[in-house]
Amino acid sequence: MRVYLDNNATTIVDPSVKELMDPFFCQMYGNPNSLHQFGSETHPALKMAMDQIYNSINANDKDDVVVTSCATESNNWVIKGVYFDKIKNGDKNHIITSSVEHPSVISACKFLETQGVKVTYLPVNDEGVIEIEDLKKAINDKTALVSIMWANNETGMLFPIKEISEICKEYGVLFHSDGVQAIGKVKVNVQDAGVDFLSFSAHKFHGPKGVGGLYIKNSEALTPLLHGGEHMGGRRSGTLNVAGIVGMGKAIEMADKYIDYEYKEVRRLRDKLEDALVKIDDVFVVGKKEHRVPNTILASIKGVEGEGMLWDLNKYGIAASTGSACASEALESNPVMEAIGAEADLAHTALRLSLSRFTTEKEIDYAIEHIKQAIKRLRAISSTYAYAPTNHKSEL
Ligand SMILES: Cc1ncc(COP(=O)(O)O)c(C=O)c1O
Repeated sequence: MRVYLDNNATTIVDPSVKELMDPFFCQMYGNPNSLHQFGSETHPALKMAMDQIYNSINANDKDDVVVTSCATESNNWVIKGVYFDKIKNGDKNHIITSSVEHPSVISACKFLETQGVKVTYLPVNDEGVIEIEDLKKAINDKTALVSIMWANNETGMLFPIKEISEICKEYGVLFHSDGVQAIGKVKVNVQDAGVDFLSFSAHKFHGPKGVGGLYIKNSEALTPLLHGGEHMGGRRSGTLNVAGIVGMGKAIEMADKYIDYEYKEVRRLRDKLEDALVKIDDVFVVGKKEHRVPNTILASIKGVEGEGMLWDLNKYGIAASTGSACASEALESNPVMEAIGAEADLAHTALRLSLSRFTTEKEIDYAIEHIKQAIKRLRAISSTYAYAPTNHKSEL
């Protein structure tokens, strides 16, 4: 049996999405910018896809949604675009983000630090979320941008987006949210949330890889990263990825349609798996269930090194993650666990399990059985960490 519990890394493409994309490879393969029929015959499908995206996130006609190649690009674009617009050619010099953002946000901010920009990396509490008071203390009249994720990729914890946007409005500061791990898991409504920018990526919600987007409220000016043929109204040059855009449109529409299923059924299966895990001695999960997206568990299994666990589960066809793909080869600890303040040995024992609407009960039962067995096996042979039971005294 093969069980895929790594849906925060990427997801299966919904077959209905693939079906809709198929004709755009060998039949309607024209460049949408061409003046002949091969170009123009792609237009209705592109228009439909853009409408699906606007409707799903509740963007309006004054707003802009620009298609990018991925959320890494969207995140880099906002942060560097705001730098050009408000810092290099303006009178601001400060950006606020959190210490648990995706590397595409953190690394872009680190790069801007080399250009003289001041960046505040807000700490997180023991659930891995920022405290609003810390944001209030950090924000000032030199702040150009606040970039805080909607949901964390490792813990699944939801951030107080509405409160953050209200504070940003009060100070006249632009607010960007990385919505990659939120779309398809919780309802994302950009008007209600009050964000100025929202990044997303199709492959996280059963769409294709290599296509993402950036929502821009009121079509706010943003210096482009990619200059060239003036595609996307001059905001992002590069021949349109027609199949990708068509796929992303359908995928986001489906994600919206299945949101109640996600809240009920995916949550039920996630809770079943989580309840079984925390019954095992010295297994802890980060964050309260109700504070998280419905599909994610970040567990710490005392005495079981994260990578060892992955290899063991992989032998039984179960795919999971230590929570950080970049850390996996170097046997580094989970950075979010570190930010939360977990002790070093616990930070090395992270196991992230992330479900999707394609996950079945049979798969969860199989995973529970094999994770239990793996924990027994690995604790028995563990030499790196001398495992001693602690009667469930949580150290997180
Ligand atoms: C929160 C978050 N932001 C951004 C990204 C990057 O997305 P992409 O793969 O589209 O570049 C990811 C991917 O893991 C993510 O989880």
